[in-house]
Amino acid sequence: MFAGEEFARDIKIAPSILSADFANFGAEIQAIEKQGCDWVHVDVMDGHFVPNITFGPQTCKAIRPHVGTLMDVHLMIAPVDPFIEAFAQAGADILTAHVEAGPHLDRTLQAIRAAGCRAGVALNPATPAESIGHVLDRVDLVCVMTVNPGFGGQSFIPAMVAKVARLREMIGDRPVHIEVDGGVTPETVPLAAAAGADVFVAGSAVFKGGSVANPDVYGDNIRKIRNAAQAARQGSQSAA
Ligand code: DX5
Ligand code: ZN
Repeated sequence: MFAGEEFARDIKIAPSILSADFANFGAEIQAIEKQGCDWVHVDVMDGHFVPNITFGPQTCKAIRPHVGTLMDVHLMIAPVDPFIEAFAQAGADILTAHVEAGPHLDRTLQAIRAAGCRAGVALNPATPAESIGHVLDRVDLVCVMTVNPGFGGQSFIPAMVAKVARLREMIGDRPVHIEVDGGVTPETVPLAAAAGADVFVAGSAVFKGGSVANPDVYGDNIRKIRNAAQAARQGSQSAA
């Protein structure tokens, strides 16, 4: 999927740096990558679309040289269109916009691809899978929010598992990733993996207990999530 890379539905763990030390992003990103994460998930919040503020394109640009894998930028901002170019220039590989962020989702997704990024679309918990039925050929990733966006450390909403399964059906053989974001832990990840998700964003479950000085904990946390996802997927495949 990325620069000559084949599309693959392998399990991918994308730690959210929302749970990292904000004064030390470079070293935190290097630590999680060394400990085996697949992508780096970057949560951009504007205090308007969501009730919290993080950072903007300048921070993304500053951390970009530290990302050796793939920078997965989740825009929780409205409006989104005026900022697409700036985040693309900042080096985002994937730019994900919310269905609920504006009236012209199809235009937004076209603008993201035109800016040279892979296009993602995120759905809040109350937004149905069918809301993106007509734009599936314009996206590379669908992000199913399994919490209400705005904060790390919230509980996974189990009703979202059926949405993942429905989207997996709708996507069919299109090269579109299904990402789940929010409340992902070794306990909740099996549900989403069995339903068909392949990208797992985890903030607190990756960063808890570890630090740049003690990065092995990040590695253990990543492995626990990955192993639980893989076991659930194998279980669902052998049951099918
Ligand atoms: C929520 C963000 C998530 C969040 C996940 O608004 O989009 O990426 O950081 O954090 P945890 O894994 O702690 O729920
Ligand atoms: Zn996110």
